[in-house]
Amino acid sequence: MFECVDLRCEDLQDPVGVDESNPRFSWKLSSDRKEVFQTEYEIIVDDMWHAIVKSDQCLYVKYDGLPLKSKTKYNYRVRTTNNYGDVSPFVYGNFTTGLMGEPVSGKWIGQKQRPEKVAAYINKVNCEEFKTAYIFATAYGIYEIYINGQRVGESFFTPGLTNYNKRLQYQMFDVRDYLKKGENEVKVYLGKGWCCGRYPFQTDLKGFKDFPAFILQMEIDGHTVLKSDETWKYYDSPILFSELYDGEIYDSRIENTYQNEGLAEIIDYEYDNLVWNIGSQVKVVEEIKPVRIFKTPYKQTVIDFGQNMAGWAEFSGSGKSGDIISFSHAETLDSSGNFYNENFRTAQNDVTFILNGTNNQKYHPHFAFEGFRYIRIDKCTFDISLENFTGKVISSINTTSRIDTSNENLNRLFKNVLWSQKGNFIDVPTDCPQRDERVAWTGDAQVFISTALKNANCLAFYKKWLLDMKTEQTDDGLVQIFIPAIREKQTSSAWGDSATICPWELYKASNDRDFLFDIYPMMKKWVNYIKKQGNSPFLWNDGFQLGDWLALDSTDGSYEGTTDKYYIATAFFAYSTIITSKAAKALGLYEDEKELLHLFENIKKEFLKTYTDEYGMPYCKTQTAYVLGLFMNLFEDKKRAAKELNELIIGNGTKLTTGFVGTPYLCFALSQNGYIETAYKLLLQEEYPSWLYSVKQGATTIWEHWDGIKPDGSMWSKNMNSFNHYAYGSIADWIFSEACGIKTDEDNVGYKNSIIAPKPYKGLKKCFAEFDTSFGKIASGWEYINNNKIKITINIPCNTTSKIILPDGKEFIVKSGEYSWEIYN
Ligand code: BGC
Repeated sequence: MFECVDLRCEDLQDPVGVDESNPRFSWKLSSDRKEVFQTEYEIIVDDMWHAIVKSDQCLYVKYDGLPLKSKTKYNYRVRTTNNYGDVSPFVYGNFTTGLMGEPVSGKWIGQKQRPEKVAAYINKVNCEEFKTAYIFATAYGIYEIYINGQRVGESFFTPGLTNYNKRLQYQMFDVRDYLKKGENEVKVYLGKGWCCGRYPFQTDLKGFKDFPAFILQMEIDGHTVLKSDETWKYYDSPILFSELYDGEIYDSRIENTYQNEGLAEIIDYEYDNLVWNIGSQVKVVEEIKPVRIFKTPYKQTVIDFGQNMAGWAEFSGSGKSGDIISFSHAETLDSSGNFYNENFRTAQNDVTFILNGTNNQKYHPHFAFEGFRYIRIDKCTFDISLENFTGKVISSINTTSRIDTSNENLNRLFKNVLWSQKGNFIDVPTDCPQRDERVAWTGDAQVFISTALKNANCLAFYKKWLLDMKTEQTDDGLVQIFIPAIREKQTSSAWGDSATICPWELYKASNDRDFLFDIYPMMKKWVNYIKKQGNSPFLWNDGFQLGDWLALDSTDGSYEGTTDKYYIATAFFAYSTIITSKAAKALGLYEDEKELLHLFENIKKEFLKTYTDEYGMPYCKTQTAYVLGLFMNLFEDKKRAAKELNELIIGNGTKLTTGFVGTPYLCFALSQNGYIETAYKLLLQEEYPSWLYSVKQGATTIWEHWDGIKPDGSMWSKNMNSFNHYAYGSIADWIFSEACGIKTDEDNVGYKNSIIAPKPYKGLKKCFAEFDTSFGKIASGWEYINNNKIKITINIPCNTTSKIILPDGKEFIVKSGEYSWEIYN
């Protein structure tokens, strides 16, 4: 068996609406033989391009055929030959080009008079026989399109969250299957969304735009048959109220009643910021059934979905016209077993549905989503049971990784990481999906990206967000603490450093040099920005800093920990500089590389002079200070630093004190410097504070705080207490890349050349990890067969090579396939 699988065009499967004149194709090889390499590929794009190339390239092969036409579907197929002479059967894919720079003919329409209302905009179109039918649409706001009552496409919250004034993604839909011969009704629901509704921390309390508007253009066989203009009518929609954070009120009696007719107005919004939808869109990725319905001590009726998630509790059922059900959401119960949602702060998350008397009605909010495990029935005029609800899990990604160990709590912790990733990948990488934030904090994103990239194919997802970051960077290089933002410009180390860390991690995972090239100017500009901060070009020692956010060593109850903020800032300055030098090297920009390496040396010198004692050890004796110095290669005497860090941790009862900044590197700093046992002990620690503490408390997602719920059952606070915050989930990366030992070679990224160096530990009998790389699944794991004998198993994908370093020190190179070894340890 030799196959070519998982065809992708610009990281997406069969994308519709691609504005690239040379789109790039990628595929994976699959074979039951070992040591398989591609020796040749053949790619045919309709009658536009036919290439047969002797090469092992299977990622980002650039289209090089006749000029692609706009708004056209192209079918392509790929087959490959391997080093055994096997030829794979053709595998088929397609992509559809978008506007390719053509102006849209649809006009921005909306209604200035009733910006609070979610209106239904309606128009008609007549159809005869046709071959192709596409809709191009976008909105300032969020929109849904219906043709003859049927919702178009499977995506939600289009056009997504971007830096709207510079980049507004338009969507293209193939609507052939929605149209019938004769008259068709096209309807658009237009909500406020991120753009015109509530958006956190706005300085002027206004959204990106004052009121929503949309553009739509339908083309049949290449002719525009319908476009948004002043002929569109609007009516009251059944969506009486909808806000992303606050929930929705939906009166199904109003559906198709065409009340309060008015004519849409042309709105004077810009057209030159439209870009194609390179990101992956939000879809329903899973459905779960609730597990119990019960009365709380306060006699409230609560339904438990058994899992904290982002999405909706979909109602389905029948009742009389005018029957009503209202419910609110919560992530947890309090210590007495009562419904608890005070941690949502000002986000209401209330949903009301009014029935119209038809049978089997189904409803979930259109322009709102919730982060929840429980719902409380606040009002209901008819009988309900568990059967009436389904948990609809929404996300921009599907997770594909696996970690399986002999410790059930650890396995649950990993599940929690996956759930927090799903729930926080809602078009942008958010901090949390429930309270009144849900924005893409750059710090949280950089902390988690190396984990995220292993758990799911999120290349397109991050690329889209990084382009927003790039367009939002100020002329002097500042990168905001969340992106996109509408507020005064503000940054902090470890948050702004997302500008270097995210592109570099993305490059390491993807092998996409073109993207690195496009984004590199942002990385360099960020380093230059830091250079201008502080009273020396080699220190960042002034201005606002978030510090080691939520660290436990804070002495004054603040969120920021006690690690010297400028120690952190200067360490990250060094780290961003070294990362940017690596990117320069990967791009062949050797002058830049040299300059950046020189800068790094100077920063390191100044850092040691300013922040360390005569032994080169930090004045500030926190775990995070040691962790950063070690992980970011700033200490001369690493041995001593590692020993002191280890003593600090042991002296603290083998417990951590680190926050957002130190935690992701904590176990790495230990295991890479001779203290693997302490790293494992922290990982397996069950007492507070630890990763497994939350699991023991029944967590089903990763908590924002080590003590979200305290050992006595009380909440640590209601102000900053999300139960679905992925930052501390970055520990999964340590399991993948240290415990199971899988890393990419930085000179041959994307796991084209990998290094696998598993590090077994007797306190855990078994640890196995696998994830999907751009080449295919990579896996590594170990199991103690008896007290001193271990079985190591690895699997590496076709077309790649791996350097294996076994725990007994033996090193060798293997090519694709599954291998196992038994060794004494
Ligand atoms: C967010 C964090 C974020 C922090 C920075 C919080 O409110 O939830 O995750 O990084 O603010 O200020």
